[in-house]
Amino acid sequence: MFEVEVPEDRYVLMEAERQGYELPFACRMGACTQCAIKVKSGEFWQPEAIGLSRNLREEGYGLMCVG
Ligand code: FES
Repeated sequence: MFEVEVPEDRYVLMEAERQGYELPFACRMGACTQCAIKVKSGEFWQPEAIGLSRNLREEGYGLMCVG
């Protein structure tokens, strides 16, 4: 587990990679869900997360590539 501070105008995946982390991804477009994470607190803005089902959203999952 690790923590990454992400500026409001950046995506989590891109910012984490910029900080040196290697994380799973495939499409980078919010479709494949390879980059899914469980959001433990705060608000996660991800209107482009087309691959995330309503159930997963309600369970608190987010997609790093578009969040
Ligand atoms: Fe495919 Fe994020 S990399 S949904």
